[in-house]
Amino acid sequence: KTYEDLYKFSVNNSDDFWGELAKTRLDWYKPFSQVSDCDMNSGNIKWFDGGKLNVSVNCVDRHAAKHPDKVALIWEKDEPGNTEKVTYSQLLAMVCKISNCLKDSGVKRGDRVAIYMPVSPIAVAAMLACTRIGAVHSVVFAGFSADALAQRIQDAGVETILTTDQGVRGGKVIELKKTVDAAVQKCPSVKRVFVSKRTGENAPKTNLDIDLDAAMKTASENFTPEVMDSEDLLFMLYTSGSTGKPKGIVHTQAGYLLYASMTQKYVFDYHDGDIFGCVADIGWITGHSYVVYGPLSNGATTVLFESIPTYPDPGRYWEMVERLKINQFYGAPTAIRLLLRYGDSFVKKYDRSSLKVLGSVGEPINHEAWEWYHNVVGDGKCDVVDTWWQTETGGIAVTPRPSGPNDKIIPAAPMRAFFGIQPAILGSEQEDLQGVNEGALCIKNPWPGMARTIYGDHERFMDTYYRPFPGHYFSGDGAKRDEEGFIHITGRMDDVLNISGHRLGTAEVEDVLDEHPDVAEAAVVGVPHAVKGEEAFAFVTVKENFSRDHETLVKELQGLVRERIASFAVPSQMLVTEGLPKTRSGKIMRRILRKVAAGQVDDLGDISTLADPTVVSILIRDSNFVF
Ligand code: WTA
Repeated sequence: KTYEDLYKFSVNNSDDFWGELAKTRLDWYKPFSQVSDCDMNSGNIKWFDGGKLNVSVNCVDRHAAKHPDKVALIWEKDEPGNTEKVTYSQLLAMVCKISNCLKDSGVKRGDRVAIYMPVSPIAVAAMLACTRIGAVHSVVFAGFSADALAQRIQDAGVETILTTDQGVRGGKVIELKKTVDAAVQKCPSVKRVFVSKRTGENAPKTNLDIDLDAAMKTASENFTPEVMDSEDLLFMLYTSGSTGKPKGIVHTQAGYLLYASMTQKYVFDYHDGDIFGCVADIGWITGHSYVVYGPLSNGATTVLFESIPTYPDPGRYWEMVERLKINQFYGAPTAIRLLLRYGDSFVKKYDRSSLKVLGSVGEPINHEAWEWYHNVVGDGKCDVVDTWWQTETGGIAVTPRPSGPNDKIIPAAPMRAFFGIQPAILGSEQEDLQGVNEGALCIKNPWPGMARTIYGDHERFMDTYYRPFPGHYFSGDGAKRDEEGFIHITGRMDDVLNISGHRLGTAEVEDVLDEHPDVAEAAVVGVPHAVKGEEAFAFVTVKENFSRDHETLVKELQGLVRERIASFAVPSQMLVTEGLPKTRSGKIMRRILRKVAAGQVDDLGDISTLADPTVVSILIRDSNFVF
């Protein structure tokens, strides 16, 4: 069969396609009775209903049984050349030990467990241990602040946290335990904090602490896995939307696993024996699907990258590729853009002949970065796959590969739908736009990896994803279809920023700025940035009696955002001004703010709908005093 035939079959006979794969690629305790039962109008979504399985068994036990000594994890620690390997049998022992520790301390099936850890074998084993005992993990990126962590703990009613004493990235120490302790102060629900050693330096202790390493030493290496239903919760992962607080996107067992597994294998042309190198952090969906669940379900050797692309120098990735003989490399455009500025020599001095496929994820890749990735990093001989997807899609949804071996790949576009995915581009009248066209990127049909709900808020789930274009999943992104039918992403259609591949809602930052006693009103917009893709630019107006200098206020506001969210969310530029442009109904006109932020004050477009047009000249005047 050709790729075309297979794709057509996958969308026209979706149940046959996914049903056969689920049967043959996953291990079940009990077969499912129905492949799919999905209603995109009510958001009632079920895959492989009636089936019973355990995700850790699929990711570890079955491979450990077949090839116990195969390396499952290669931990590339922050210090270059400092790697630790974990075989499948060792991973199984770790997972079982942690499972026993969790269970002995009272963690039960269905409990939510927060993981706030650096990329490391212990973190991966902790995730898998949750799946083994049927607990729902919520991994929180270890760059988030104590407040952000606390918010996620509270929303999910977390009683158990797993963390490490500290983290190290790019030679810098990150005080993880200290941050956890600060978060726990605000979270009375937390009953226990498991702490594993990363640096061994004196991290603070509290009476909720359990020494995970010590507990594991005496714990049994056997643990009978919990028998889970296909639609039981597997994990939740918080992500930003255009309004309100971050939402806990929920994924369930079988559908998510199958989708992560299939995409890892086919998008990257993964074969047995390959070394798979996804450099994402496990705190994001890319880390979940392509560091952990995709590769491990396929019995692969997966790289855990703890460091940053420029440590100790901008050759780090490629030195690692040479040393570990990585076959598939999957990273973010922001890193590629950063590295290309240092020139080709940092790439060329390392042997990259092991590379077969180069992947890009998380944000649009620009042409310059794509060409450099393809020509310099890949020596023109690797397929470059620009993969479009989201936390909500569970896995890659639009991607140049798989496709026919001779099918071309055009630069900087995800191009083709993955098996079983029917993308649609919808117009403002909710019409399905055909041919060459631009509009809202939607998916017409259900697929196994799709998110099931927002934790505790199904209405918000429906409002965000299913009500804007009834009968369709709406991604929040815009897309266009070219003459050849290939899909290009045009960017977010809502107020979500993408800063170095990190999703951030402008409303989240505005809420924090508004908290400051001197701030009357705040508006945050994105401005293009050559390396980060986008940066946050904040406009604030101050209360009437404000008389301090603006620079001090700006510093306080930056500190506040760092404390409440994370460093990456801190607006890089701020303007303290006297008024924000609003329509007569009081809506802030962000379009105008975006122009001012980008320095395009001569080209503000139509300002006739402004309630008070004099605001514009004030803004233009003040834009000379950006901090
Ligand atoms: C953006 C990351 C252009 C997009 C896997 C999406 C992309 C958001 C691409 C999801 C791409 C992701 N081209 N934009 N190849 N991939 N995006 O949930 O705006 O962290 O909606 O998932 O990143 O970010 P998330």
